[in-house]
Amino acid sequence: MKQEENMIYFVTGNINKFNEISVIFSKANMKYCLQQKDIKTIEIQADTIKEVALFKLNSIKGQINGSYFIEDAGFFIDIPLNGFPGVYSSYVMKTIGNKGLLSLIDDFENTKAHFSTVIALHYKPLDKNFYFEGCVHGKISKTIRGTGGFGFDPIFLPDILPDRTFAEITTEEKNRISHRGKAWNKFINFMKKT
Ligand code: IMP
Repeated sequence: MKQEENMIYFVTGNINKFNEISVIFSKANMKYCLQQKDIKTIEIQADTIKEVALFKLNSIKGQINGSYFIEDAGFFIDIPLNGFPGVYSSYVMKTIGNKGLLSLIDDFENTKAHFSTVIALHYKPLDKNFYFEGCVHGKISKTIRGTGGFGFDPIFLPDILPDRTFAEITTEEKNRISHRGKAWNKFINFMKKT
C-alpha cells in the first residue's frame, strides 16, 4: 500500500475534537494513520449541520491528496429554546458562552437538550462523499460544572449519566455515549470494511 493510501486526514482546527477522535482511532486497530490538517474551510449559515458539513467538505476539494473528513457538531436546547443555538452554536459559544445560555433558561425547571454531529468523509479510492451521524440526549445543568471536555460540555447532563456533566467524565466515558463517539463508530465500521 502506498503511504498516501495509508493516511486519513481530519481537517479541523479544534485540537479537542482531534484528541477525542485519536483515542477512538488508536483503539480501533485500523490500517489507516490519522493526521490532523488545519486548513481553512468555508462555513456557511444553513438550517442543518448536514448542509454545513457538506459545504465545508466541498470547500476543500482538491487541496488534499488522499481521503479526508471534517466533523460538524451542534448543541440544541429543545426545551425551552426550541433547538437554539443549533447551527449557531459556535457563534453563541464565542459571544454569550455557557454563562449566557444558562441565564436565558434560568427560570425553567424542565429542560431537554441534545448534541448532534455529522462526519463528512471524502473517500478518495471511490472519489465519493459519505456521511455518518450521531446524537446524544440529555438535560441542562443548573450550574457550570467540571473541568474536562470543551465547549458546552460543562452544562450538559447526558440522560444515561444524569448526575454528571460531560465535563465531569473522562474522554473514554464521553466517547462511549457521545454524539461524536456514535458517529465515529459508524465511520470506523465503514473504514474497516473498505
Ligand atoms: P463545531 O462547529 O462543530 O466546531 O462546533 C460548534 C460549537 O459546538 C463549538 O462552539 C464547539 O465548541 C461546540 N461543540 C462541538 N462539539 C462539542 C462537544 O462534544 N461538546 C461540547 N461542545 C461541543
